Amino acid sequence: MMRKPFIAGNWKMNMTPTEGAAFAKKLRDALGQSDVRVLVAPPFVTIPSVIEVLRGSSIEVGAQNMSDQKSGAHTGEVSAAMLKDLGVKTVILGHSERRSIYGESDHFINDKVLLALSEGMEVILCIGETLSEREGGQLEAVLTTQVSEGLKGVAAEDMGRVTLAYEPVWAIGTGKTATPEDADSAHAFIRALVAKLYNEGVAEELIIQYGGSVKADNAKALLSKEHIDGALVGGASLSVEQFLPIVNFDK
Ligand code: 13P
Repeated sequence: MMRKPFIAGNWKMNMTPTEGAAFAKKLRDALGQSDVRVLVAPPFVTIPSVIEVLRGSSIEVGAQNMSDQKSGAHTGEVSAAMLKDLGVKTVILGHSERRSIYGESDHFINDKVLLALSEGMEVILCIGETLSEREGGQLEAVLTTQVSEGLKGVAAEDMGRVTLAYEPVWAIGTGKTATPEDADSAHAFIRALVAKLYNEGVAEELIIQYGGSVKADNAKALLSKEHIDGALVGGASLSVEQFLPIVNFDK
């Protein structure tokens, strides 16, 4: 089974609409033809200018978050319908920064996952343990809870629209990467868990991205591993010079 590599750039709270458009133009012109699925996820307000530049290109534009509600009195929130109206088809949910800084729970994230899927969108669901959880021997327990709670109520036939991103919290923005072996063993555990929750076919086709200090010089070693099908890139996605070699890891 060949899973098509999927590299996504999570810009986090970086890039104004003007900066994002300039960056997207540079990335588009540098990328050319690629066998890899490529997505950038700008901040909400930067999405329109980036979409405009990337119209007709193979680079997809996603969102970093979305409301758990459809519409109405939810000050400061952005709905699935608003994103879809812009042409956004994919949304990152449950990022560790949403969980730790903004208190998003597995239950709340699950509500968003179900809403996004019911709206016909694709989801990148982020999971991953903290350093103290790993050191306390809780890795498998944490992943089991995050995957089973995050996907609660998701039908097998909708799993083709779900990507999981394994992002160990201690590796995010720290320059510390999980070794390819440690990351692969976590990915293998996640895939086996999905086989148990669904079936072997769903698990085989599931794209599992690794995230946490992915850089040009470690991308190939990580992505060569059997169960690592892509990357969710933070810091290194903000520079074309750093992001392009990650996308082209296999060239
Ligand atoms: P860094 O690549 O900056 O470690 O960020 C990873 C991440 O959180 C992507 O969502």
